[in-house]
Amino acid sequence: MSGTFESVNEKIIKSKKRVQNHGEVFTPKRIVKKMLDLPHIRQACQNLTSTFLEPGAGEGAFLVEVLNKKMKMVLKNYGNDLTQYENYSLLALSTLYGVELLEDNAQKCVMNMHQVYYEAYQQQAIVHGAKMKNKVLDSAKLIISKNIAQGNFLTKSSASGNPIVFSEWQPVNLRTNTKTIKVQRTEYTLEDIIEGVKKADGEPSIHSEKVKQLDFFDLFNNEEIPVIEAKRMRYIPVKITDVYKEVMEEING
Ligand SMILES: C[S@@+](CC[C@H](N)C(=O)[O-])C[C@H]1O[C@@H](n2cnc3c(N)ncnc32)[C@H](O)[C@@H]1O
Repeated sequence: MSGTFESVNEKIIKSKKRVQNHGEVFTPKRIVKKMLDLPHIRQACQNLTSTFLEPGAGEGAFLVEVLNKKMKMVLKNYGNDLTQYENYSLLALSTLYGVELLEDNAQKCVMNMHQVYYEAYQQQAIVHGAKMKNKVLDSAKLIISKNIAQGNFLTKSSASGNPIVFSEWQPVNLRTNTKTIKVQRTEYTLEDIIEGVKKADGEPSIHSEKVKQLDFFDLFNNEEIPVIEAKRMRYIPVKITDVYKEVMEEING
């Protein structure tokens, strides 16, 4: 009964023009659920480290449902320990990627992913009589914002015209009962991913590289004007609850 009610009220088309211009027709929830229930996909949804990339993500119909399924797995396996729940839920979140052309859809997709994560975490915090931690929420926000790109999947470029860049969040020494997970972040362009390029651990993409510049006051300490060099940086392995800090170190040599 509630299923019928839901599908009657579900909006799958925003406007005729958007359907014509962008092929925008959202997949109804019950169809998404049926598709994700196909045996091999169901299995992948239950595996916390299997990755998903949705090329025309819309408002995240598939990603949101996969996240729901993964969060249920995290609850089942790590619900007794809030620290483990926080760590494994962020790991699950870090495996979901999407590209969406239209700004409003991409924003809604980000918000929908965040809402699923937030509500599941909030529920668990209540069960454990604890408060949600800011570092967990901030890391969730950072991961979602890096994993959902507004851009064109066909040209592989973002809204700003630069190549689409995704972060890989590779768990370091993950064992069955690890309590706090460390991850190594490495950036790849969508082109790199499709071409199967392997980069050095921690390497940022040149399209999002942070440049560390000499201190401004150094200019007054030397007679000669120093050359402002761009330092080569890389992400260092960090606790998954600390990824929001985006800590990098300088590469020597
Ligand atoms: C048929 S809808 C499906 C949306 C979502 N996957 C779902 O099942 O509800 C296709 C989506 O792809 C987006 N899209 C169209 N062309 C695209 C492109 N070149 N790159 C990325 N997204 C695109 C549209 O804006 C639209 O949101």
